[in-house]
Amino acid sequence: MCGIIGYIGKRNAKEILLSGLKRLEYRGYDSSGIATINDNHISCTKSVGNISKLEKKLKKKSLPGHIGIAHTRWATHGAPLLKNTHPHFDQSREIAVAHNGIIENYDYLRKKLFKKGVRFLSDTDTEVLAHLISQYYKGNLSDAVRSALKLIEGTYGIAVICCKNPNEIVAAKKGSPLIVAVGKNEMFVASDIAATLRHTKKIIHLENDEMVVMRRNSFDIKTIHNKSVTKKIEEVSWNIDMIEKGGFEHFMLKEIHEQPESITNSMRGRIDEKHSTSKLGGLLVFEDKLKDIEKIVITACGTSWHAGLIGEYMIEDIARIPVEVEYASEFRYRNPILNKQTLVIAISQSGETADTLAAIHEAKTKNATIMGICNAVGSSISRESHGGIYLHAGPEIGVASTKAFTSQVTVLLLLALHLGRMRNTSKKRAKSILKELKTIPSKIKAILKEENSFKKIANLYSNKNNFLYLGRGYNFPTALEGALKLKEISYIHAEGYPAAEMKHGPIALIDKDMPIVVIATSDNVYDKILSNIEEIKARNGKVIAVANKGDKKIKKLADHTIYIPKTIDVLNPFLTVIPLQLLAYFIAVKRGCNIDQPRNLAKSVTVE
Ligand code: G6P
Repeated sequence: MCGIIGYIGKRNAKEILLSGLKRLEYRGYDSSGIATINDNHISCTKSVGNISKLEKKLKKKSLPGHIGIAHTRWATHGAPLLKNTHPHFDQSREIAVAHNGIIENYDYLRKKLFKKGVRFLSDTDTEVLAHLISQYYKGNLSDAVRSALKLIEGTYGIAVICCKNPNEIVAAKKGSPLIVAVGKNEMFVASDIAATLRHTKKIIHLENDEMVVMRRNSFDIKTIHNKSVTKKIEEVSWNIDMIEKGGFEHFMLKEIHEQPESITNSMRGRIDEKHSTSKLGGLLVFEDKLKDIEKIVITACGTSWHAGLIGEYMIEDIARIPVEVEYASEFRYRNPILNKQTLVIAISQSGETADTLAAIHEAKTKNATIMGICNAVGSSISRESHGGIYLHAGPEIGVASTKAFTSQVTVLLLLALHLGRMRNTSKKRAKSILKELKTIPSKIKAILKEENSFKKIANLYSNKNNFLYLGRGYNFPTALEGALKLKEISYIHAEGYPAAEMKHGPIALIDKDMPIVVIATSDNVYDKILSNIEEIKARNGKVIAVANKGDKKIKKLADHTIYIPKTIDVLNPFLTVIPLQLLAYFIAVKRGCNIDQPRNLAKSVTVE
């Protein structure tokens, strides 16, 4: 996600901010900027792309000052362009803001400010905040920030400077991480300890709704409701490498653990409680067309294709629209049958996959409407689609996709509900799905707590050469995804199958050396899956079952049982995929594989 660092002290702010930004690079970003105060004036330099480009620009520009803020941006609202790069300013350029998070009601606030004569220079949600602070500013910066934040719905970690108050930085947090780092005659604020660790190990974690006013030698922390709070200064013992990965050994493990939060971010501001549907702003451009579509074709590659398969089940089940799921590499060359009433959904976390992009071009020539589902804002696929939905999952560094996958499934579910509510889905059904969806992040947290028991199972089977993954219904695409995760990072041959298809081939492979992961949640095909497990056991196969808590039948049959909380069928993929991601991860660790950069694989495949 985006990164923030702010500095006030005696040293040259530009140098400290620039080195802090470099420390935040690992989080992924598309642009960066620095603003400092000198002689009651704010100077600012921004650049799109790598921080080395910003550094080059700064070599030509002095940017003096002992106070400043800086930001690495990962686009959410507006493409990664210079005009959208932080810090953002009010109209008089007296106030500068760096912001992480998403302001949900920014459109409403933007319109209100526009009516008051405010003119916007960017497409971001953050700029709204700079103008709001300015509207409330009467000489006291913290009062102005406090008043502005009261109007904000959504999440933020912010750092604000004002050239009329050149001796203070105001920072506040809600939902996005923010720490204060205390040095000798200098203070820092940052979204991540990595940015400040070189300078001091003394830090204070800000909590939600807390605001700090920092001066060179002192700081005040209050709530945004102006109540004083006492905070403890902690001493950090981690080294820089541990911090970048949030204390996890690998980015992949960190990203697996981030899923409760990334799924929440994908849902944020998109649920319309009143009408029991979803609000998807990026579809407004073709909302009318959505009413008339007769067929949906989902096209994607790799993990995104698996998410697409789950999307097919969801959309057909909830919205009753026929869906086909196509590998983009096949679709682009096979003269697909499409017309004006076809909606083509291209799913791609990177938004740059060459085959998926070519599939869009093919669909466009046949007059289909194109919807992009991407994580990377402003990416080629998002630009070439007629409309779309961003994942807001934050950057994914590990090559094997985990949190982007569950965010894709989240967005596809919201889409299915949207399409369904435009048609025949009852308010009652939609409401019960939405209610259950909100429990998913906490259910995932509960599964993650059990990871040590998954590790034990992983260690027992890490020396095997083949794995089979079986599932039925909503759990079939998850079986494919579980097998793919294992292949990608452990280099073990693994195949996913619909459980009933086992008897048409894979059963011939089963013997005592074949571990078989069976997803056996208590759903409408539960009894059938039990019979499949019996068939495996009769051939001495080793069964690792993923079942619902309290299921004693499975425990008796399987060699190992991984218990997960119960949910409704349509939401099962969110929960069943988590132990499979972790199994793959722990097996690969045990085999000593390169987890975050597996051999021969790339995060973004821009060649055919
Ligand atoms: C590569 C990545 C996979 C990803 C696939 C599709 O193979 O390693 O993790 O699922 O590309 O990428 P996309 O960016 O289009 O989702």
